Amino acid sequence: MLIQQIIKKLRGITEVKDLSPDDMKEFKQEILNINFQRHKKLDFLLFVIFAVLLYTDYVNYKNLLWFMEPGYRLLFYSHLLVLGGMVICGIFYALARLSPIPSQQRFKQIFFLFGSFYVTICAALTSVVDQYLHGEIIVFVICVLAYSIINLQRPLIAVLMYSLAYVVLMAGITLVQEDLTILRGHYINGTLIVILAVFLSTTLYYTRIRDLISKKTIERQKAELEQANKELSAANHELRESLAALDESQNIIFTLTLALESKDPNTHGHSERVVNYALALADYLNLSERDKTLLRRAAVLHDIGKIGIPDYILNKPFDLTAEEWKIVKTHPVRGEAICSKLKFAQEILPIIRHHHERFDGSGYPDGLSGDSIPFLARIISIADTVDAITSPRSYRIARSMEYALNELKECSGTQFDPFLAEAFIKIYNSNTSKIINSNPTVAEVKN
Ligand SMILES: [Fe+2]
Repeated sequence: MLIQQIIKKLRGITEVKDLSPDDMKEFKQEILNINFQRHKKLDFLLFVIFAVLLYTDYVNYKNLLWFMEPGYRLLFYSHLLVLGGMVICGIFYALARLSPIPSQQRFKQIFFLFGSFYVTICAALTSVVDQYLHGEIIVFVICVLAYSIINLQRPLIAVLMYSLAYVVLMAGITLVQEDLTILRGHYINGTLIVILAVFLSTTLYYTRIRDLISKKTIERQKAELEQANKELSAANHELRESLAALDESQNIIFTLTLALESKDPNTHGHSERVVNYALALADYLNLSERDKTLLRRAAVLHDIGKIGIPDYILNKPFDLTAEEWKIVKTHPVRGEAICSKLKFAQEILPIIRHHHERFDGSGYPDGLSGDSIPFLARIISIADTVDAITSPRSYRIARSMEYALNELKECSGTQFDPFLAEAFIKIYNSNTSKIINSNPTVAEVKN
């Protein structure tokens, strides 16, 4: 019970801390597979080496050395012991290869652990015989160093394995070596070799674990990146489709505007001229680019509600009846309703609704007055009126710009914002050609 608790504590100390139990299990599995593959080759090599050593034992036998020196007989037995271990390893290897998958892991584990413990202890025994015959422990040194580099072992297993082999070696050479000076040298060398082996084996084990963690982290990040890329690509696709849909809806609505203007030859180009006048005012007032964009859109769409007004009313060559006027006056509200379905037109809905409000509150549809009328709607009101006056109608010919400016002056403060009316007059008087000649295209207006 106490030993179990000590082992549990030691395991806790030697566990890799920042690793989940699942990852640790996967890594242990991978390390077992690596050890299995390496041991397969190592055991085959040992089998060949000890087969050759058995042949030398046979030569010693032939030369009668076995009878002259019993150590050679012991050497033969130690070689035979290793070879027997290799045969047992071969059986576990075959079982690991031939068993169903769940059992394979168990046999791989046994193959690896049995091989490691068995060979290091046999190396210690062989070195004891060597010590007796030649005063050497070289087989133990080579074997321990080779295993510490090739084996990826957890610290507990490494300490246990090398300690066992160390105890066997030390006990053996103490029995067979009488020269204390030589013995002391082997004690020191053997101890240093075992400490080095534990250190090497443990370091390589943790290095491998760190490599596996890095590999797994990179794989995880790669998968996350690929997922993010896929999502981005999907979002991009959706955005493109939305933009295409938006573009299509804009095209439809601007086409409707052109269709509306084509119903009445007298209003042809009306929206483009309103854009032109509104932007002239916007430049003069130093408005922001955002406001200019809204003015462009509103200038094109402000009369879109007239689509719902019968042609005979729009094109009537003489005065409208009160009932007909009532219908005409519904066009700002109809226009707002049409554009309310369009995302890109949300900000210009108040401009469309209120472009026929008058500064003194006598306009329609809501009878707003002064500053309560949206500022951009007051600009469109002036631009719209100026173009209406200077364009021909079915019931009258076109009036001059001077006539329109005079109207602006006379209706300043009643129909129009006085500040804006005065600004427009100033712009016209200072820069006539620019206002009259620059007619934006519908494509420009859309931007
Ligand atoms: Fe209008």
